[in-house]
Amino acid sequence: MSRTRFRLPAFRALCAALAFAAAPAPAGEPPLVPRPAHITPEPGEWTIPATLRVQFAPDDPDETAAAHWLHYLARQLCGRELMLAPTARGDIRLRRHAAETGDETEAYRLNVVAGPVDGGLRLEAGHRAGLLHAAGSAAQLLCWPGRDALPAMRIADAPQFRWRGAMLDSARHMQSVDYIKRFLDAMALHKLNVLHWHLTDDQAWRIDIRRYPRLTEVGAWRVPAGAGERDIDPATGQPRRYGGFYTQDHVREVVAHAAARGIEVVPEIEMPGHASAAIAAYPELAALAGGVERVPADWGIYDNAFTLEDHGFVFLRNVLDEVIELFPSPWVHVGGDEVSAVQWQASERGRALLAQLPGDDPMRLQTWFTQRIARYLDSRGKRLVGWDEILAPGLPQRAVVMSWRGIEGAVEAARQGHDTILSPWPTLYFDNQQRNAVDEPPGRLRVIALRDVYGFDPLPADIAPAQRHHVLGMQANLWAEHIRTEPRVSHMGFPRLAAVAEVAWTAAARRDYSSFLHRLAGFWPHYGAVGIAAADSAFAVEAALAQAGEGRLRVSLASQEAIGAIHYTLDGGTPGAGSPRYDAPLELAAGGVLKAVRVVDGRAIGAVRETALDPAALRLRHSRELARCGEGIDLALEDDYPPQGERAVFAFDIQHPCWIWKQADLRAPIKLHAYVGQVPFNFQIGAARDAIGFPKPRYQGGELLVFEAACDGEPLARLPLGSAHDNDGVTRLAPASLPQRGAPVDLCFRFAQSRLEPLWAIDRVVLVSP
Ligand code: ACM
Repeated sequence: MSRTRFRLPAFRALCAALAFAAAPAPAGEPPLVPRPAHITPEPGEWTIPATLRVQFAPDDPDETAAAHWLHYLARQLCGRELMLAPTARGDIRLRRHAAETGDETEAYRLNVVAGPVDGGLRLEAGHRAGLLHAAGSAAQLLCWPGRDALPAMRIADAPQFRWRGAMLDSARHMQSVDYIKRFLDAMALHKLNVLHWHLTDDQAWRIDIRRYPRLTEVGAWRVPAGAGERDIDPATGQPRRYGGFYTQDHVREVVAHAAARGIEVVPEIEMPGHASAAIAAYPELAALAGGVERVPADWGIYDNAFTLEDHGFVFLRNVLDEVIELFPSPWVHVGGDEVSAVQWQASERGRALLAQLPGDDPMRLQTWFTQRIARYLDSRGKRLVGWDEILAPGLPQRAVVMSWRGIEGAVEAARQGHDTILSPWPTLYFDNQQRNAVDEPPGRLRVIALRDVYGFDPLPADIAPAQRHHVLGMQANLWAEHIRTEPRVSHMGFPRLAAVAEVAWTAAARRDYSSFLHRLAGFWPHYGAVGIAAADSAFAVEAALAQAGEGRLRVSLASQEAIGAIHYTLDGGTPGAGSPRYDAPLELAAGGVLKAVRVVDGRAIGAVRETALDPAALRLRHSRELARCGEGIDLALEDDYPPQGERAVFAFDIQHPCWIWKQADLRAPIKLHAYVGQVPFNFQIGAARDAIGFPKPRYQGGELLVFEAACDGEPLARLPLGSAHDNDGVTRLAPASLPQRGAPVDLCFRFAQSRLEPLWAIDRVVLVSP
C-alpha cells in the first residue's frame, strides 16, 4: 500500500473545470458520501432497466470481487437482483485499466452513459480497492431513492488520505461477528478503509491465541461491578460473568468480510499497559508479582504493566506471531497509551534497566520496550502503530504515531519525520454524545455533533506543508466502556463516521456541510438496509415548552440541523411532507400530543418525536436537563441494575456529583419529589478519587440536600436516602416541602454521604403542587 497522500492525476485535473464546485448539493447530485472528487454532468439520462447484467473478467480476482460486492449491495440496498454475466454484454461493465501510478490504489472512474441502446454504467480502476469503491458508488446510484433513471455523468474519484478509519473497542464491551460485518458494510458504503480493532485491554482479552489458552479462558471474562457482583448464575452459584472472545476462525471471517469490501483490519494488542486481563490469566507476565487477582471491571487507568523480563517478550512475540498470521494488514497497533512506570520502577529488572539507560525520565523504559517490539515487528515485515505516548526520543523511524491527546502528537511526529494518524480527543472520540437529550444513549456528556466532526481539519496549519505527507489520515474511536450494546455502537458511530469519511476522502475545496447534509439525507435508507440503526440526533426535533397563560402552552421546535423543514401533527397522525409545516412557535391548548419530524427533500429523516402537551412537563427535570456544578468526568452513566433489561441513565460529573435546576419556579407551595439511583464507583482515577468530597450526612445512610443558589450553606431541604439503600434500581425518596419564593431561583442538589460507595445520582426531580 502506498504511504503517501494521493496526488491528483492529470485526467482528473482535466475534468476539474466542469465539476461541481464546493457548493450545496445541486439538484441531481447523487447522494454519495463521501463526495467524489469530480462529477461532470453529461447530457441525457439512462433509464435503469428491470434486468441488469454485470460484465467483468472472471479470471481477474479483483474484478470478480467488485462484481460480487456490487451484486450484494444492490440486493441489500434496494432489492435489485443483478445478473453476474461475466462475458455477456453488460449494462454494467467493470474494467481494470492500466494503473497510472502506484498511488492510485483507490482511484476509480464511474460513468453513467445515457441512451436506451448502449446506456449503462462503466466502472474502471487500476487496482482492487478502486474497483471495489466503483462498485460501492455504482450500487448507490442504482439504489438512489426515488430514481428510475440516472442523469448521465462522469465521476472521477480518489481519496485525499489513505487511512480513513474507525476504531472499534471490542474489549470493554464485545460485539458479535455478525454485527461487526454489518458495521463493516456501513463503513464500506462510506469508503472508510481501516477498521482498527481494539482486542485487548484491562477488562478483557478477546482474541484466541492457541499457545496461551488462558488468555481467553480467564482473560475474556469479568464480573461486572456493582449489582453484577450480586447477580448469581444458578448454574454455577457464582456471579454471572460478562464476556466472550473471537476464535481464530471468527477473526478470519471478519478479515475476509472486510477485505471483500476494501477494508483493512488493523489489530490492536495493547502493551505494555492496559494489560490487566492478560496478567490475570498469566500472573508471570506482571511487572510486579501479585497485582491482578481477577480480570477487573473498573474503567480508567491501572498501574499494571507487562514485565520487562525476557520471558515477557517471548510471550509477546509468540502472541504477535499468531496475530500476524491472522491479519494480512501491514500494520500492527500495539497501544502504548496511559502506561504507568510505577511497577517497573519497583521491579528489579526495571531498576537495573534504568541504571543503564541514559536520562532521568522513567518512561524511557517504555521507549526501550517499544523499540524491542518495533524491531520484532520489523523483522516480520510489519509496521508498529501506537498511541502518541510512544513518541519519545529513540522511537524507531518507521513507527506510526496515532495522535489522540489532541493533535500535538501528530504535529510533533510529522516534525520528527514519523508517519501519523489524527485521532484526537475530543472531536474524534465517539464515546462523546452527539446531543444532550434524554433519548440519547449513555456516553460522555461532551457534545460532539455531526457538524463538529465535519468541521475537523485533518491538515492543521501547525503541520508544515513539507511534512504533510506524513499525515496518513484520520480515524474516529468508539471506546466502548459506556457503549454496551450493538445498537448503541451504530448510534454513536453513524452518521458521524460519514463525516469522518468525507473529511478524510474529499479535499477541503470540495467539502460543503450543507451539500453533505442533503446527500446524507438521500443516503439515509442505506443504513437501515445494511442493518445499522444510525443516530438521527442531528435531525431530531426537540420541543421546548413554556407556559402561555392558563391552560395554554407555547411550543418551540428545533433540531441541531435546520435543513429541510419540520412538519407536525396534533391529531395523532404520523407527520410527513404533507403535514403542517412548522415556521414559528405555536400557542396550543394544553392536552393532547404533538408529533414532529424533519423532512428533507420530500422524505422524513429520523424518528417521529412525540411531546405531551402537559404543563406538568415544565416541572420535571431529568438529570440530563440539569446543569452540572463542575467540569470533571462528565458522564451519562448507565445504571448497573438490572443486569438484564432497561436501565436508567444518570447524567453527572463523577468527580463533582452536583446538579443545578436553573430558574425553578417556587412561587406556589411546592413539594419536591426526587428519584435517585446508586452506582458503583468503578473508576481508576488515581489520587483524584481522594479529592471527591461530600457534605456530612445528618441521617444514617445519607440524604439528598437541596440548596438555593450555590451548593453550600444551610440546605432548603434534606431527603433521607433510607430504604433506597435496599434498591439497586431507581427509588423515589419521600417528598419534601420547599419554601415559597417570589421569583424563580436556582436549586442545587448534592448528596450527603459518608463514603464514596455507592455513588448516588439523581435520575429526575419533579416539583409537585400539593
Ligand atoms: C486512549 O484514548 N487512551 C488512546
